[in-house]
Amino acid sequence: MAQTESVVNYQEMIRRKRDGGQLSSAEIRAFIQGVTLNTIQESQIGAMLMAMWMKGMVAEETLALTKEMMMSGDVFHWPEEWAGLVVDKHSTGGVGDKVSLPLAPALAACGCKVPMISGRALAHTGGTLDKLESIPGFNIHQTVEQVRQILQDVGCCIVGQTENLVPADRVLYALRDATATVDSLPLITGSIISKKGAERLCALLLDVKFGRAALYKDLNSARTLAQSLVTVGNSLGMKTGAVLSRMDAPIGHCVGNALEVCEALKCLKGQGPDDLKELVKSLGGFLLWMSNRSPTPERGQMMIAEVLTNGAALRKFQAMLEAQGVSTHIAHSLCSETTDYSKHLRPAEYQTQLQVLDDGTVLDIDGMVIATVLHRLGAGRTRAGESINHSVGAELLVDLGQQVHKGQSWIRIHHDCPVLSPDQRADLQGSLIIGNGDSYQANVRVVEFIQPN
Ligand code: URA
Repeated sequence: MAQTESVVNYQEMIRRKRDGGQLSSAEIRAFIQGVTLNTIQESQIGAMLMAMWMKGMVAEETLALTKEMMMSGDVFHWPEEWAGLVVDKHSTGGVGDKVSLPLAPALAACGCKVPMISGRALAHTGGTLDKLESIPGFNIHQTVEQVRQILQDVGCCIVGQTENLVPADRVLYALRDATATVDSLPLITGSIISKKGAERLCALLLDVKFGRAALYKDLNSARTLAQSLVTVGNSLGMKTGAVLSRMDAPIGHCVGNALEVCEALKCLKGQGPDDLKELVKSLGGFLLWMSNRSPTPERGQMMIAEVLTNGAALRKFQAMLEAQGVSTHIAHSLCSETTDYSKHLRPAEYQTQLQVLDDGTVLDIDGMVIATVLHRLGAGRTRAGESINHSVGAELLVDLGQQVHKGQSWIRIHHDCPVLSPDQRADLQGSLIIGNGDSYQANVRVVEFIQPN
């Protein structure tokens, strides 16, 4: 990236934004160039982020910010014959959200190319890269050339951000974390869409979560974020849509890195919990429709269901594991029908089951509480770069809406410390809401679809 202006008055730009003014596209370009080339002081970046957080940005500014961030480093280039085939999804993060693991190979089995660039766990939410790293040998670090080769050979990969992909986001994200400016609509939009734009996708689906265990707690604020992401994604030439999905109880039965890999493998073998399967089919159906591989989202869902049951998605997953460094023996064993997962995914030292305290119906399970306890047991990180324990996790032994009896086990915690503390036990027990079955209402996960515009 070459700097276009030799002298940039950052101070003046910060003052104008601070006072509620609008920045021009040229000024935003100069700011992002300063960030990328390290020609602006860190204090000035922090001040500008805070001004953007406090005063917000109009649509033109958000688009310019996203575009300049996207162009701050490498962008992928794909062979012409892949036109219309390159798709991806992004989730704003949840508890037990292992959807990417079956979805990427299922889409590849339907003929798509899926260069899935994923993130790590932060705060209570899990990260796809951490889940995959519980598989011995799995290498999330792939160069641009390797990504292209894996897509050619397999059709999907799940990788970390390559060294020079959207370098401006690396700097800005770290400083947003340090300056309490993460939760800003234009800054989140710029951060998410710039990375997806650099993937040069034809279709992008955003899974914007709302609920207790999501970044946004209520549907309206999640919708506002989704609309911003959809507008900017489409303006950058990607067909971009979004689903709004409920994130209160964990997705599926398992939370925690290695346990979630096991559950994703079950889904790829046509088994596993219904809510996970429904989400994979729903998101996959929209993406197949958006990339013109199916005439309707419903037909797309049927195509995804078929590759989950006929083994085609599982074979893609196995090939992806091998292409990303897992030995043929382990990849084959994990993907076989009769595998003992604990042979390859290290189990935790201890398991503790908790019992239901009353007879009744399971009305709710608070995913946020479970995630917070697992985080304290080592499953998550508080700061980027911290190591995590892949074996820590929880298995739900009951379903929402199920009749249960006092004394019945409802959750199994996998942990490496010898005992759970009284506080941890109390928090977990408080996350299970038992009541009268008449007041139980089953909730669908996906409540709304925002169409590409
Ligand atoms: N994910 C990102 O990549 N960036 C954000 O700002 C928030 C979520």
